Amino acid sequence: MIKAFLFDLDGVLVDTAVFHYKAWKRLANQLGFDIDEEFNETLKGISRMDSLDAILKHGGVSLSQEEKEKYAKIKNDWYLELVNQMTVNDILPGVETFLKESRSIGIKIALGSASKNASLILEKTGILVLFDAIIDGNHVSRSKPDPEVFLKGAEALGVENDACVVFEDAYAGVQAAKAANMLAVGIGSEEVLHNADLITKGLNEMSPSEIITKIL
Ligand code: BG6
Ligand code: MG
Repeated sequence: MIKAFLFDLDGVLVDTAVFHYKAWKRLANQLGFDIDEEFNETLKGISRMDSLDAILKHGGVSLSQEEKEKYAKIKNDWYLELVNQMTVNDILPGVETFLKESRSIGIKIALGSASKNASLILEKTGILVLFDAIIDGNHVSRSKPDPEVFLKGAEALGVENDACVVFEDAYAGVQAAKAANMLAVGIGSEEVLHNADLITKGLNEMSPSEIITKIL
């Protein structure tokens, strides 16, 4: 029996995946190289410092730890410039209804995100109050595909792992859900998310009850 839904943030509830891409691309350009959308797919769900390491490797650039921390902060400042312009209108289509309907049928809700900016984003978009637990980049030490973020989410909700459904737009995020022995709904394309149990284009495409019926 499904008792809880665990949601990734960037690319599932809000379109901040685009903001991350813009800010990382700007940083790469400043360092003298470029990143494209295909490479950006591999960064989804990955922590800030792990993303920076991957980008530097991609560009063949080597930096000291101190320089890396400086550039991670610069990227985050650019990212926050975009986040700070967000309003309730920036939630992805159908998200608020989906969360409310889930609650109304007794499903518990947690966030499972690698982002250290998660609470700020949920607050700005007005959906923070709909969550029973928030597990984000401030609470975990290992990036997806490690299952830590979802295991902590299930624990915070007091729900067994196999009674949880994870909603993810990242391949690494679906891997993390599977490693946690949870079911996974991929939000996006079949090409990228072929490891998910069910795939949909967005939370406006299916109701919580339909998801539960189809995924079991
Ligand atoms: C994940 C995103 O949710 O959070 C990644 O998919 C991002 O792209 C990561 O790098 C860390 O986010 P933040 O906000 O802590 O830099
Ligand atoms: Mg994501």
